[in-house]
Amino acid sequence: MGKSIKGLIIYTVMVLFVSIGYFAYAYVVYPPTDERETFLSEIGEGFGEVGLWALLFIYARTLLKLLMGKGALAKRILPDYSPPVAASIFQQLLNFMNRTHVYVGIATVAIILLHIALMGLPMEILFFPAVLILIIWQGLFGMFLTWRYSPKELKKFSYLVHAQFITGIMIGIFAYFGHLLIDD
Ligand code: HEM
Repeated sequence: MGKSIKGLIIYTVMVLFVSIGYFAYAYVVYPPTDERETFLSEIGEGFGEVGLWALLFIYARTLLKLLMGKGALAKRILPDYSPPVAASIFQQLLNFMNRTHVYVGIATVAIILLHIALMGLPMEILFFPAVLILIIWQGLFGMFLTWRYSPKELKKFSYLVHAQFITGIMIGIFAYFGHLLIDD
């Protein structure tokens, strides 16, 4: 656990460095475009905001799961341990998030795709096509995980590449720097 968190931090710093490098390059090569203020782009902005909150909600579940996992461990080590009352509220919240993840996930992919469709996709700034591919990636392997006719091996692979922070870290960092390049 400690080791995997360390690995994630190193990975995040690496993605951050590469992104800052590419950001500097793109900043020089592609002058910032004027923000379009059309009717559709105004709606598109709203979808972007909702999409961001939806992603935060999804990864909050994963964090909560990790934290709750620790509670379960404490229970095994200390047989008399009973989680504080507050923990059961978190457990209820987690149960709710687990039950709704597939729907929240599908809605999130749809909302972000709508956001991209309404705002337009600046293909020359590579952050954007990368985010698009990663979002489709999460949705596709999430579907393979859920689909009951997925062969066992595909399910295993899908879990490996879907249920992790690696794509999420890239989505967050790429989307952030991409927006820095077009927002001013
Ligand atoms: C952008 C969209 C999505 C993101 C960022 C995302 C992220 C995640 C993450 C981080 C996990 C591991 C969570 C954990 O163990 O707590 C997970 C698990 C899972 N996801 Fe997604 N997901 C998305 C969309 C979807 C979609 C569209 C589906 C199904 C159609 C789906 C189905 C599942 C399933 C079945 C699991 C494993 C079981 C579970 O932990 O509930 N996900 N997802």
